[in-house]
Amino acid sequence: MNPEEFRLVVASGPTREWLDPVRFISNPSTGQTGWSLATAAVGRFRDVVFISGPGSERFRTVEGASNVLVETTAEMTSAVRDHIRDSCLLIMSAAPADYTPTEASDQKIKKVAGEPYTLTLSPTTDILKSLIPLAAGWSAFYRVGFAAETRNLEEYARKKLAEKDLDFICANQVYKSEAGFGDHPNTLLVIDKKGETSKIGPATKDDLAVRLLDHIVAQIPAKNRAVI
Ligand code: CTP
Repeated sequence: MNPEEFRLVVASGPTREWLDPVRFISNPSTGQTGWSLATAAVGRFRDVVFISGPGSERFRTVEGASNVLVETTAEMTSAVRDHIRDSCLLIMSAAPADYTPTEASDQKIKKVAGEPYTLTLSPTTDILKSLIPLAAGWSAFYRVGFAAETRNLEEYARKKLAEKDLDFICANQVYKSEAGFGDHPNTLLVIDKKGETSKIGPATKDDLAVRLLDHIVAQIPAKNRAVI
């Protein structure tokens, strides 16, 4: 692909789902991977949209990109939908919460001493899956997902590649010495639509971002999506 003809949309960081005014469900994603990708892409792609959830403050905005700050998975879903278009590469490096409290409380939930507290959660939108019908009508809309797994890395990643109809999935093992969350050297197993794998790393997240963009740009043909 010629990146100068493409918009890059990167969704990055965690989301928050509030239970009450003082508590939320989230995860420890810092947003660094997405930030490194968007930073490496500025000046290389036609334009870069960086959609970020509440991770580390220093990874929330990217100089030279259009920055969109979101908090919840619903907000991230709307932001992604608002900014994608044909001739676009979407990289979902975000870790959106998969569940949200079925009923959030307006007031702080008070504890009842000695009683267990049961929280009921409802699924949020799977952003990548929700884009499948839209992508079918566009000629050049490429999607890259991440799979952070604690076990069965390649098996789960291949399943997500197929179920979310992705062009690439980048799998990384979390909670190991080259862990995915936080600022550690990282290794990505990149699987393409044909099922072929490439290993990138171990490297810092900044280096990985450059190498991953190089890999994606080289693998996507200039005109014809069908050969991927
Ligand atoms: N993703 C998404 N919408 C969600 C959750 C995840 O688009 N509501 C994207 C992530 O940004 C990532 C990919 O889907 O690119 C895989 O996310 P991951 O959390 O690894 O997997 P899930 O689909 O949430 O499945 P599970 O939690 O069961 O592993």
